[in-house]
Amino acid sequence: MNATEILNADHEHMLSLIDEVELAEPESGVVFRDPAKFDRLTEALRVHTAIEERVFYPAMRTFDGAAPLVFEACRDHRRIDALLAHLSTIRRSSGRALNRLRELKDHIREHIKDEQEQLIPIARALLGDKALQALGQKMERLTQSRAG
Ligand SMILES: [Fe+2]
Ligand SMILES: [Fe+2]
Repeated sequence: MNATEILNADHEHMLSLIDEVELAEPESGVVFRDPAKFDRLTEALRVHTAIEERVFYPAMRTFDGAAPLVFEACRDHRRIDALLAHLSTIRRSSGRALNRLRELKDHIREHIKDEQEQLIPIARALLGDKALQALGQKMERLTQSRAG
């Protein structure tokens, strides 16, 4: 797959996980409804963030029109990291956890929407097929090394 196809597939995968991740009702204990889904989402985010920040964003940063979008995107990533870190420190059954989870889900959805509507179309317009293929190969190698 080329770079934008990989990013699109990752985004779809994460959006479907986000829809499924919910906290249990406060009275029922201290768990996510399905903790494995939350773990899968955090792992998918970790690998996806790495391929964007180490392969995709550096390639896009070289274009004047895309540089500010990349800057914003990195800021979004740090916000998402911070929300994940915060969520891991608070009691899962608390109302605060529920709010943080909602915030996290909103941030991820908005961030993905921005990338889909802005950065990815620019990448398609400015990078040729060859470059997109080469970036895709780099992403696949990095995904494999980080998944192991
Ligand atoms: Fe991103
Ligand atoms: Fe992304």
